[in-house]
Amino acid sequence: MSKKQTPREVLKVDGESLARAADELRRGGIVAFPTETVYGLGAHALDKAAVRRIFEAKGRPSFNPLIVHVADAAAARALVTEWPRQAEVLAETFWPGPLTLVLPKRAIVPDLVTGALATVALRVPAHPVARALLREAGIPIAAPSANRSMGISPTTAQHVRASLGDRVDIILDGGATDVGIESTVIDLTGEVPAILRPGLISRIQIEAAIGAVTAPEPVEGAAPRPSPGMLGRHYAPDADFRVFEDNEAAVQWIEEAKSEASETGAIVWSDLDLPGATTIKLPDAPAGYARGLYAALHRLDARGCNLILAEQVPDTPEWHAIRDRLNRAAHKS
Ligand code: TXA
Ligand code: MG
Repeated sequence: MSKKQTPREVLKVDGESLARAADELRRGGIVAFPTETVYGLGAHALDKAAVRRIFEAKGRPSFNPLIVHVADAAAARALVTEWPRQAEVLAETFWPGPLTLVLPKRAIVPDLVTGALATVALRVPAHPVARALLREAGIPIAAPSANRSMGISPTTAQHVRASLGDRVDIILDGGATDVGIESTVIDLTGEVPAILRPGLISRIQIEAAIGAVTAPEPVEGAAPRPSPGMLGRHYAPDADFRVFEDNEAAVQWIEEAKSEASETGAIVWSDLDLPGATTIKLPDAPAGYARGLYAALHRLDARGCNLILAEQVPDTPEWHAIRDRLNRAAHKS
């Protein structure tokens, strides 16, 4: 494991560390920093060599494109050939915030950033550290989540360090992130806007702003992927991960695991009691649950649980993005 590796620098955020991180980015380094969703692993988006280092550090396949973070809507417009009315409305309504817009890219955006697609994904993050870094660096910052490919996204600087270690030049430690799951991604290049990845900004909120959109394909099935990054299995812990609807099934799995002397972890949101499992109870409302989910998975993984069980969450629109993450983590590819 990479747990013993250390980045060259883990820095508490202040004026000096921000200036150093911005300088590192301008010179082609890679810097992990907090956004309001999860920690990102940033590089100068217009510098191919720097962007290549992100793919290497993550072990990310080159066909999976990166999100480019910018300081404001004007900086986003500078990277695209079209800025439709829907982009304007969504930017005004949700930026800065956890919404990513996919639009036709300008030639200055390297193919390496977009997985050779003709489109680029753009987002203005709301986290004060991300905003300060963008302002200070004065460049667009390409940043996927700051974890090894296929792993759980990091919501603390410690998660980044455990996953990427010395593959990163600097980690800016801005504490735990607030949203906890990745941004909503919406493609505005088709006739009807299409949500490619659900997030806490819901389809209902988006439709209230711009009218009808199409929703993501269900995780199961062999349908073509709407977005290169939407692999079935994703966001997965090292442990065997299962979602249960039926409490009896969970109890039985725990018994079976015990007979194999393996340790079981559980994540619940109700008052369900699961003797024999190290249980983490998350809030029973979507925002609080999302904030704690990845930290809970990281904790149970780090404890050495071979099996992690998660109580299924309600099948209602507010829980949709969380169901998506749970089902993906449980997906066997
Ligand atoms: O909240 C977030 O979005 C975090 C923070 C760091 O901003 N970032 C993040 O990046 O989750 P990443 O790389 O883990 O996920 C980016 C997603 C992938 O599913 C990718 O396929 C999709 O965005 N994506 C990027 N560019 C795209 C494009 N041009 N067309 C379609 N999908 C795209
Ligand atoms: Mg990711």
